[in-house]
Amino acid sequence: MEISVIGAGHVGLVTGACFAALGHNVVMVDNDPSKLERLKKGDVWFYEPGLEDLVHKGVKEGRLSFTSSIKEAVEKTQVIFISVGTPPKPDGEADLTIVEHVAREIAAALKDEFRLVVEKSTVPVQTGEWVHKTLKGAVKANVEFDVASNPEFLREGTAVEDFMKPDRIVVGVQSEQGKKLLRELYSSIDAPLLITDVKSAELIKHASNSFLAMKISFINAVSQVCDIVGADVIQVADGMGLDKRINRKFLNAGIGYGGSCFPKDVSAFISIADKIGYDFTLLKAVSEINEQQKRYIVKKISAAMWNLKGKKIGVLGLAFKPDTDDLRDAPQLDVMKMILAEQATIQAFDPKAMDHAKELLPEGVTFCEDAYAVAKDADCLVVLTEWEEFKQLDLQKLKSAMRQPIMVDGRNLFDPETVIQAGFRYTAIGRGINIED
Ligand code: UDX
Repeated sequence: MEISVIGAGHVGLVTGACFAALGHNVVMVDNDPSKLERLKKGDVWFYEPGLEDLVHKGVKEGRLSFTSSIKEAVEKTQVIFISVGTPPKPDGEADLTIVEHVAREIAAALKDEFRLVVEKSTVPVQTGEWVHKTLKGAVKANVEFDVASNPEFLREGTAVEDFMKPDRIVVGVQSEQGKKLLRELYSSIDAPLLITDVKSAELIKHASNSFLAMKISFINAVSQVCDIVGADVIQVADGMGLDKRINRKFLNAGIGYGGSCFPKDVSAFISIADKIGYDFTLLKAVSEINEQQKRYIVKKISAAMWNLKGKKIGVLGLAFKPDTDDLRDAPQLDVMKMILAEQATIQAFDPKAMDHAKELLPEGVTFCEDAYAVAKDADCLVVLTEWEEFKQLDLQKLKSAMRQPIMVDGRNLFDPETVIQAGFRYTAIGRGINIED
């Protein structure tokens, strides 16, 4: 099939490249000329395992093309995905101005052949209605179109696999033509295809992400209880997770959730609920616990240091999670800013996110070439992102480089006994082990 994807970002580019790999012809649209130039050469501007190969393949096979013209894309393709940014406004509400702008440009290009416009971006419920109204108000009488919602469930770091092997595909669409097109488009993916109305599909996205964020805030709250009573949050999560209704996933306590989705989606859901007259107190608590968890690890570091002022803190991991270079809404940034506010200094390393971090972090942070350089003369080693490679570090080598062998493991990456046996004073999140013990 002939499809176009407007917005070559983390979601749009994965969507376009995967559809091309499935045999469709894809026109990618973006308004950033430098991005387009790089993509035409197959150069992907962010790290996502496996994506660059797919883009190269799509370009080489002539299935993936790039343009800045929405008009060209609408004329050439029958299904048009909108995957532009919906960033949060200061009050948390999703900013839909780019979505509206794109809808108007699509409307101007619609002719007499049926077109299906599909919301791929994460949008608040009722956005589909607005897109439909905008198109309706801008097209000539005999123009036929429909607006569908097809939310993405891609996790950064596994986005290609999540696209090709999803737990489910959700499409919210009214017209029979739209249903037929989307069934055909997704026919080569082996997963349940759930067809709903547009609003329900939009809500499935916000509700799913908010539920996952709630699981994380729940286990983070339990982790603080575990530290007080001396229990182990990992054993608690293991015991909970054996109940199939609960499931073990997304019950890893840490420094809080981040990324371009959970924080934004939770605040957008709270905001749209407020707007329609529902006070979503549960999600407000999820968000508050997440903020509290970032303060919690800083409190642990301070307790371990006695006085944080003047200390040298070694930080392992900057990206909001492993296998990505993304720092958007990363709790790591907030934690580091709080450490710096206590007039400590930071030396940090991350396998992928250093370049982005250098643009975002204030003075007072030294970027190191590896984890051992981070340990050099450090008063404390703090794990903020659970990169697999950190697990393989030589603990004796780390210890001998440090001013004092203290580790605060913000992601429960290490086995406490192993680290303590290596001569460290160690604490983590919810393991019931406190350094002053
Ligand atoms: C998320 C959803 O998982 C995905 O379905 C949706 O389409 C986009 O948002 P993503 O934000 O890429 O994906 O990453 P995810 O793996 O969900 O992690 C989100 C945050 O939660 C990260 O900061 C991660 O560190 C944190 N997290 C995750 C925990 O703190 N504990 C966990 O158990 C799981």
